[in-house]
Amino acid sequence: MFLLSIASLGLVAVAAATTPLKVVKIGTTPDGTTAPIRGWNSWGTQAGKYLGDDDYNEGHVTGICDRLASDLRGNYKLCGLDSGWSVGDHGDDYGRINYDSNKFVIPRFASYLHGKKLLMGIYIVPGAFLNDFNKTIEGTSTKISEICGGSNGLARCQLKYDHPDTQKWIDSNARQFASWGVDYIKLDFITPGSNDNGVNLPSDESPEVQMWHKAIKKTGRKMTLAISWKLDRSKPYFDIWRANADSMRVDQDIQSYSHTPFTDWSRVLRTLTNYLEWINAAVAHYDTVRTHPNLDTMYVLNAGDLSGLSLDQRRSVFIHWIGSSAELNLGDDLERPDPQGLALLNDRDALAAAAFTANYPMQPRNPGSGGNAWLAQNAWIAGPSPAGEFIAVLANYDDAGTKTVSASFGDLGVSGRYTCFDVFGKKSSTTSSRLSASLNGGQSVMYRCTRAKH
Ligand SMILES: *[C@@H]1O[C@H](CO)[C@@H](O)[C@H](O)[C@H]1NC(C)=O
Repeated sequence: MFLLSIASLGLVAVAAATTPLKVVKIGTTPDGTTAPIRGWNSWGTQAGKYLGDDDYNEGHVTGICDRLASDLRGNYKLCGLDSGWSVGDHGDDYGRINYDSNKFVIPRFASYLHGKKLLMGIYIVPGAFLNDFNKTIEGTSTKISEICGGSNGLARCQLKYDHPDTQKWIDSNARQFASWGVDYIKLDFITPGSNDNGVNLPSDESPEVQMWHKAIKKTGRKMTLAISWKLDRSKPYFDIWRANADSMRVDQDIQSYSHTPFTDWSRVLRTLTNYLEWINAAVAHYDTVRTHPNLDTMYVLNAGDLSGLSLDQRRSVFIHWIGSSAELNLGDDLERPDPQGLALLNDRDALAAAAFTANYPMQPRNPGSGGNAWLAQNAWIAGPSPAGEFIAVLANYDDAGTKTVSASFGDLGVSGRYTCFDVFGKKSSTTSSRLSASLNGGQSVMYRCTRAKH
């Protein structure tokens, strides 16, 4: 009894020295779902023309996305088309965004994917086409020119958000997407946050995001809205993003824009430092965030010659994308799976961890202080849930060699006795003091901890 109380006093003293942990949840997003989407996005291989323009078509992409159902066992469902699926400089008779039928017949493609229990995603950018100025918005007598200001630099106009029929043009697109069977819409080039991209975007396109959300709701079809890129994280804008979009990108593209490899460790680290800023903002603003972060595509499946990452680094990517409650969209070439990559992606314990972090995004808790800074050796915690479950991640981001990363329960902001399961190492241990691991540069470990039984 005496020894026990000394021990608990010790724990209280350590915890008091650090900031108390504020548990943050994600909750239900605007489209009504409770888990981030998982799948594949074509930009991962398109960016450096590894998937060339001539191979970006329904026949070829069907073969790629079949792998989601076969190799990846339906654990990853989204077949996400990025830029290039649609006609680039004009819409249909009503000025609506239309598919390029030389490449994809979207209703047929969606129906094929749905037959395999997969989901279909498309990519759009803001504005109506400059070439469509004389066309009439469906169901109105309003010309496209009336809802348009000047060029936004993307062959489209800056929409007049205060015109009553601007919403109707967006509605007409959403209705058409719903009729095709679209499940996911990536809306790129949204400001504030995507400002330095060399085009001519209006400084505040948040009304466009609100209009897309309204338009999607009106269709009655569930279509996930993902907005991009590096969106403004200040509270007034974060409030708008979380009320209207199911995910928001935290950084610029992760792709190298070389043919191969697709990315490298420095780009992963840049993305993760931006995630750290995103989650710190989310913790400061909210108890329940209501939108998922999007860390861009992850490279886990392909070996180093394609991905640009070692196996340790690919496992770290997977651990961090899961831990952050991010969309789990692969950027890899699905037709060249590496067996170790497949084993990671189909790992049942990893998918069970993702089911937990779907609702609890991880936040940084620095070893030794419990702070929330970026450190070369760092610790993160997701949860704990009311049932006393949490996920902890320890990571060594430094290339310089092996380090012991050690976070006390005080650092992590928890107390009590937990049994912690190393999700990829497949072993459990029980502790009431700390988690420690010896990690190579680029290596991470993920623990799933539950209250120890007495
Ligand atoms: C719209 O019609 C006007 C008048 O006929 C014409 O001058 C203009 O070039 C047309 N604009 C477009 C984008 O077709």
